[in-house]
Amino acid sequence: MLGATIERGADHLETLRIVRPGFDLDTERRARAAAGRPDELRPVDFHPDARPCIDALRDMGLTVGAAGNTDAATERLLRDHLGLELVASSGGLGVAKPAPAFFAAIAELAGVEPGRIAYVGDRVDNDVEPALAAGMVAVHIRRGPWGHLHAEWPEAAAAHLRIDSLAELPAALSALPDERTTVRLNDDGFVHDQYASTAKLETRIAVWQPAAPGRSPQDVAIARLAACAPARLLEVGPGTGAFAERCRTQLRCEVVALDSSAEMVRATAARGITAIVGDVAGLPFAAGEFDCAVAAWMLYHVPDLDTAIAELARVLAPGGRLVAITNGDEHLRELYAAVGGTKLASSFSRENGAAQLARHFARVDRIDLEARAVFADRAAAAAYLATLGQEELAARLPDFSEPFVASGAPTVFVADRA
Ligand SMILES: C[S@@+](CC[C@H](N)C(=O)[O-])C[C@H]1O[C@@H](n2cnc3c(N)ncnc32)[C@H](O)[C@@H]1O
Repeated sequence: MLGATIERGADHLETLRIVRPGFDLDTERRARAAAGRPDELRPVDFHPDARPCIDALRDMGLTVGAAGNTDAATERLLRDHLGLELVASSGGLGVAKPAPAFFAAIAELAGVEPGRIAYVGDRVDNDVEPALAAGMVAVHIRRGPWGHLHAEWPEAAAAHLRIDSLAELPAALSALPDERTTVRLNDDGFVHDQYASTAKLETRIAVWQPAAPGRSPQDVAIARLAACAPARLLEVGPGTGAFAERCRTQLRCEVVALDSSAEMVRATAARGITAIVGDVAGLPFAAGEFDCAVAAWMLYHVPDLDTAIAELARVLAPGGRLVAITNGDEHLRELYAAVGGTKLASSFSRENGAAQLARHFARVDRIDLEARAVFADRAAAAAYLATLGQEELAARLPDFSEPFVASGAPTVFVADRA
C-alpha cells in the first residue's frame, strides 16, 4: 500500500489514514511521547554504512553535513552522535524540501557555490530534482521504499550519481570529473586548440628528463610491440610523429598514422610516415588490417572513449596488440601541490584504463613507470600550466631559485585481442 502511495507521488501519511481512518500524526506522536516511547531517531537507527562513509569523505577533505525534512531533535542527534559539521532541518530553516529555498539555505549555510555540494537522497521528487535545479551534484541512493521505487523512474537517470549503498559514495565522488578544473581533457574545443600547432605539445614534452634505458614509456612500448613482430602498425594520435618514426626504424614494419589535427598529420608525414587526418572513434580501415596499434597519451582526449577502444580492437587482427600510454592521477603532484590546484580530469588514466580496455580486449597488462620533470624556473612551470589552459594556477606559482622537480606517473597498458 505504501508502494502504491509513493508511486502516485502522494503523501505517505495517506497510507496510515487508509489503515486507520482519521489518523493524525501530531496526536499519535504526543501519545507515543506520553507512553515513554517518543517518535525520535536514535543512534541505533543510523545505517551501519553511515559513519564509515562520513569518515572516508572527511579523509577526502570534504565537509560533511545532513539536512532533511525533520526537526530540531534530529538535528541535535546528528550533531551529537555523528559529529557532522553542518546540520539543518526543515523545522530549523522554516522551509521544507523540495522548495528551492531549502536548497539555497543549505548552500548558504555551507558557504560554498551549490556546484561544490553533492546532495544525497533517496527520493527523486524531493532530493534529486530540486538538488539539480539548485545546481548541486545530485546523488540518488536506492535505499528504502522511496529509493527502490524512485530508482525505476526515468527522472532518476538525471542524477549525477546513482548508488546502492553509502559505502560506494566516496569512490563515486572521487571519480566525478572536477568541474572546477575548467576544461576537461576530452572537450572538443580544448583538443582542437591544443593541437592546432605542435607548440604546446613540444613545450610539455621538453620538461621530461630521459629515463634509465628500458624504463621510459616509449622503451617499454617498443619492447612490447617488438614481441608481436608486427608487419603493419597503426598509431593513432601520433602528435609530432617521433614515436611513429621510432616504430618504423626499430620494428622494421609499415607504420600508418592517423590524427585529428591536420598540423600533426603534416608533422608526422614530414618524417616519411603515411599519415591521414581522422578520428580514432571512426577508423577508416577494414577489420583486422593491423597487427599492432599504439595510442600514446591520446585516449583521454576522445569524447566517445568506448567506441574508440572498440574501433582499435576491430582494426586489429585476431591476437593483435594495442599499446596505450597514459598518466596516473598523481602525475606532477608536486607541481599541483605548489599551486594548490588539481590536474585536469582524465577519462583514461592509470587508475581507470584497464577496466575500459578489458571491455574489448581479452587480456590487459598494466605497467606503471616513474618519470621526472624539471622546470628550470618559474616561467617554465608557468608555461607548462598555460599550455593546458591553467593560467590561473600558473599565477599562483611561487618563485623558486633552484629548478623545480616534479614526478610523473606514466603507465603503459598492453591489451591483447582474443
Ligand atoms: C598529447 S598528444 C600525444 C601525441 C603523441 N602520441 C605523443 O606521445 O607525443 C595527443 C594527440 O592525439 C590527437 N588526437 C586527439 N583526439 C583525437 C581523436 N579523436 N582522433 C585522433 N587523434 C586525436 C591530437 O591531435 C594529438 O596529436
